[in-house]
Amino acid sequence: MSLSQKVDPDTLPYYNRHADRKIAVITGGNSGIGWYTVLHLYMHGFVVYICGRNSSKVNKAIKAIMAEAKRRSELKGKEKNEAKVVHGSLLYIHADLTDLKSVERAAAKIMKKETKIDVLINNAAVMAQPYEVTKDGFEIQLQTNYISHFLLSMKLLPLLRNCDSQPRLITLSSLGHNLQFKYWNLTQDWNYRPNMIFTWMRYAMAKTSSIQFTKMMAIKYPDILCFSIHPGLVMSTNLFSYWTRLPLVGIFFWMLFQIVGFFFGVSDEQGAMATIKCALSRDFSIEEDSGKYFTTGGVESKPSFVANNLDDAASTWIWTVHELRDRGFTL
Ligand SMILES: NC(=O)c1ccc[n+]([C@@H]2O[C@H](COP(=O)([O-])OP(=O)(O)OC[C@H]3O[C@@H](n4cnc5c(N)ncnc54)[C@H](OP(=O)(O)O)[C@@H]3O)[C@@H](O)[C@H]2O)c1
Repeated sequence: MSLSQKVDPDTLPYYNRHADRKIAVITGGNSGIGWYTVLHLYMHGFVVYICGRNSSKVNKAIKAIMAEAKRRSELKGKEKNEAKVVHGSLLYIHADLTDLKSVERAAAKIMKKETKIDVLINNAAVMAQPYEVTKDGFEIQLQTNYISHFLLSMKLLPLLRNCDSQPRLITLSSLGHNLQFKYWNLTQDWNYRPNMIFTWMRYAMAKTSSIQFTKMMAIKYPDILCFSIHPGLVMSTNLFSYWTRLPLVGIFFWMLFQIVGFFFGVSDEQGAMATIKCALSRDFSIEEDSGKYFTTGGVESKPSFVANNLDDAASTWIWTVHELRDRGFTL
């Protein structure tokens, strides 16, 4: 049995959005692990804001998720003859994580619509892309995977803190964070060749920063449950598509990923289970669990010693706050 099978979503609480309006916000909910995370939150009665950069992709995902939820509920109803659960609702919010102004606008839109957030899931990412600098002046993986989520979380903080029942902040990291073997100043942009090697340093730095961010949030805001996650190796998602679409060698990478997936991988849905458990389980307490790192299926684990070091986490935090303030963002 794989680790991820340890989570049975049916054992996690269901809510009725008419009686108990539960709000979740997720980035990158239109594909891969995020798609299944949204599906389960929706089936558990959550109103889910899906922050994405492409309205047609997100709206298509919304339709498909609603259809899949209906299909599953009907199937379950027939099997168990259970009363129908009330599904939540799904809403699109435009947010391009390579553009900090767009992230700020997305947060402002949510602030206008809601008075609290129960769960914020920083899920979106790009991986192992060629070196590129965003219009905000950050390396693209660092901004998409870490800095934009930092800004989004800080902007939505008042709504999270306004939730009176264990608000949760969940940030997707990766096993790949372990490639950062010592603390690097975040101005180190690893813009060297070959890309095939140094792009992983950039990804690792972004994902280590995400864990450090979670740890700092847990310390600074003891009223919020903060988690970071490695979801598992899910080789079928779009995260790998830069490599599989490369001319000529793409097919080689595709085969390699299939082999890795066959031996070590989990499905997209199993990849979502750690997030679902962290978002819904009532077994967590802020005192015992906030700041923890979980792997596939929500199994508690230990991140790298760099990610675990609180002095380094504080340095990353201070650097990020200064960089955002220098660009005119108030935190
Ligand atoms: N798959 C794995 O094996 C694995 C392993 C470890 C960690 N993770 C982590 O799990 C999370 C989910 O990954 P996944 O495998 O599900 O990948 P995925 O299918 O590629 O999903 C990534 C999501 O991020 C969105 N995104 C990317 N750039 C964006 C931007 N600039 N603005 C807004 N949204 C953007 C994508 O939107 P578009 O559709 O518009 O591109 C997509 O919805 C990531 O944080 C990843 O690092 C995955």
